[in-house]
Amino acid sequence: MFQETRRTFLRQSSKAAMLTLLPSSFYKNTDNTVQASVTVQLQQSIGKINPNIYGQFIEYLGRAITGGIVDAKTNQVRKDVLAKVQRLQTPLLRFPGGTVTKIYHWQDGIGPKNARPVRPNLIWGGEENNQFGTNEFIAYCRQLKTQPFLVVNMNTGTPEEAANWVEYCNGKGNTSWAVLRKKHGYPQAHQVKYWGLGNEENAVPDTGKLQDPQKYADMAWQFAKLMKLQDPSIALVLAGGDKAWNEVLLKELHPVADYISLHYYANSKPGEPASLFAHIAKFEQEVEETKRQIKTLVPDKVENFNRWYRFPPRQEPLKIALDEWGIWENEGKGAYNLEVSYQWFHALGVATFLNIFQRQADIIGMATWAQTVNVLAPILTSDKAVICQTIFYPMELYRKYCTGTSLKTSVESPSLAQKGGETQPILDTACSYDEQTGMVTLALVNRHPSLSVATKINWEGGKPKSLVTIHELTASSYTAFNDIKQPQKEVVTYQQKTSKALDSLVLPAASVSLVRYRL
Ligand code: AHR
Repeated sequence: MFQETRRTFLRQSSKAAMLTLLPSSFYKNTDNTVQASVTVQLQQSIGKINPNIYGQFIEYLGRAITGGIVDAKTNQVRKDVLAKVQRLQTPLLRFPGGTVTKIYHWQDGIGPKNARPVRPNLIWGGEENNQFGTNEFIAYCRQLKTQPFLVVNMNTGTPEEAANWVEYCNGKGNTSWAVLRKKHGYPQAHQVKYWGLGNEENAVPDTGKLQDPQKYADMAWQFAKLMKLQDPSIALVLAGGDKAWNEVLLKELHPVADYISLHYYANSKPGEPASLFAHIAKFEQEVEETKRQIKTLVPDKVENFNRWYRFPPRQEPLKIALDEWGIWENEGKGAYNLEVSYQWFHALGVATFLNIFQRQADIIGMATWAQTVNVLAPILTSDKAVICQTIFYPMELYRKYCTGTSLKTSVESPSLAQKGGETQPILDTACSYDEQTGMVTLALVNRHPSLSVATKINWEGGKPKSLVTIHELTASSYTAFNDIKQPQKEVVTYQQKTSKALDSLVLPAASVSLVRYRL
């Protein structure tokens, strides 16, 4: 039986992280500890971890911007919220949507604030006063030291409108839109590199008009041409969809696109927290399938690009932009129940996602969590208070330490039992080596609510000199959450520990550990 189980699950192994699952009864000791082992291949790189995987997203949706990023009464940036967003050290911020891009006209959000139109938010309800427009967004990005990522309207907007936005943001000369930006108080170009060509354009219930991939491809070409003629240095993100949709886009648009987007929201089945991890595991499969499709259809280097396009083709291999990822449970408050309260097991899910980003570092070029404040967010506000939800803490920690080159790992772990569901390993891992600091960071997520994991670490291709610090996150329970009604209460505990042992660790139940070794 041991061998049978082993073989069954070995078939599920992925290139980046090989898993062997064994029922926890094989390993359980009397003290509620199970055993697992992790092998780290110090000489086997998966690829560079792009810092842009730690991006965030804000949209005109409910209290995401108005009431979140800015005070709903004064329209001024909320300093208490800004201080929390700054802790995430996000390198990339996506704006203004999301689905709302289908009705958003950027000219509504520039110029004197008292002259800006108030528009109905036809997508999410309510009214938008356009007080947080392009320049306010850029100013916010500067305060965060983050790169802006703008998404253009491909439905009620035109290629010319999008190209004008590029000129307004990036124009350096004396052309009219660039001059207007200068008149608005911004003499230096905003230098916006990342531009999204629409959002979820395949979504039939939306107000979009491009729901046929060929229509999208034809229209996206026009947008890309006019936008690139304004600034050839910009990077474009295609609005990806399912496999058939992506096939058309990749074949037709790959010479001018740098990324294809993937959106993924995980959730759990009611009363079965651990089912979240099965849903997240499917995400990794989807990334691998998309990668196979990209590698089959898209050459790394564009050849014979017609010079009469008058701008250069894509310069780097095309990557996935996971420009919306998150955990979307159907029981939040606010607009469309999107103000979700995140429990501790959701934070273990976020850490698992961030492990996957490392394991898939060769194909995921950027990722922006949807969304930053109030809407499906790590930060929640009331009129007077602001709190970090449980999911905030792994985001903050991984951004600090999981950088550099992703290294191959494999895991032998007991399984996490689920009611009739797919079995997942208790332990999830990834590993990185940062050339600048000389540190190896082993990320370990124990997803079991009550069992500790005694973990053996096998080092291959070398061995670290010392274990420097264990950064550990735990919480008062699997389902504990921080509550905006009790802003002082904190359910998450962060500890720094150390150990002399290089080859073994005990991971507490329901914990995230980033273990830092000096090589
Ligand atoms: O993030 C919330 C919404 O989810 C976005 O507007 C849309 O793109 C996605 O479906």
